[in-house]
Amino acid sequence: MHHSPFTTSRTGAGGGTAVETQTIGMELALSQLLSRFDDTEKSIIGVHGLGGMGKTTLLKTPNNELKENTRDYHVVIMIEVANSETLNVVDMQKIIANRLGLPWNESETERERSTFLRRALRRKKFVVLLDDVWKKFQLADVGIPTPSSDNGCKLIVASRSNQVCVEMGDKEPMEMPCLNENESLRLFRSNLMAEVSAAIDHDSDMRESAMDIIQSCGGLPLALNVVGCALACSMDAVEWKQAARAMRAILVEDQSLE
Ligand SMILES: Nc1ncnc2c1ncn2[C@@H]1O[C@H](COP(=O)(O)OP(=O)(O)OP(=O)(O)O)[C@@H](O)[C@H]1O
Ligand SMILES: [Mg+2]
Repeated sequence: MHHSPFTTSRTGAGGGTAVETQTIGMELALSQLLSRFDDTEKSIIGVHGLGGMGKTTLLKTPNNELKENTRDYHVVIMIEVANSETLNVVDMQKIIANRLGLPWNESETERERSTFLRRALRRKKFVVLLDDVWKKFQLADVGIPTPSSDNGCKLIVASRSNQVCVEMGDKEPMEMPCLNENESLRLFRSNLMAEVSAAIDHDSDMRESAMDIIQSCGGLPLALNVVGCALACSMDAVEWKQAARAMRAILVEDQSLE
């Protein structure tokens, strides 16, 4: 029996609110996340990877699907912690209270609220997704009970930092896999106008530049989208060659920084 509230199916036409555009090559990352999620011994799941690798996109996929499938969990809460040098506890508490349909009282202190929220969440089987965590923090300070195999709750933490994932409670966080060459090409092409995309098949110079660009992107979705958008309407093989050269230069520069 498979109890996972995640499915690998996509929200197709008419299937609820389509939050993002179609993802490409997310299957491996999703299956890695799911197998961890299905492990009853694993209550805290960390996902780390470079900026633009698709961590938020990955978290949003199961989040959307979880909301539609509340069979196993009472509540799924997605919290974008985002860029918090100074953690915004109040904002996080607001999201949780709102999601639980609890009243919000401005005059309460953070501490009072954390006690109140923890009490409310303790009665639920919850999944909390914390996106973009930059620094370790105590779940209790916000009002999130510690998920465990006893309470059956789950926490998914996404961060650029492996170390932060470890500190948040996953000793072996998963690394966001990068796209392979084939997926990279598909994602890159998905940004192009149809006739430009077709030109890759016909024009050997453009194809060569496209493959150079894909190499330079190193399977990073953000990079593939940015350069794909930049070339979306260009049928000029010279322009493509320049783009490929520019991308290569960025790659070399990057490596010399390390
Ligand atoms: N598999 C994919 N298919 C299509 N687009 C993708 C894919 N992965 C990521 N993207 C796109 O790439 C961009 C960056 O992805 P995302 O924001 O998920 O990265 P991230 O890992 O969360 O980065 P950060 O560390 O900066 O938060 C987004 O515009 C997203 O839509
Ligand atoms: Mg993100």
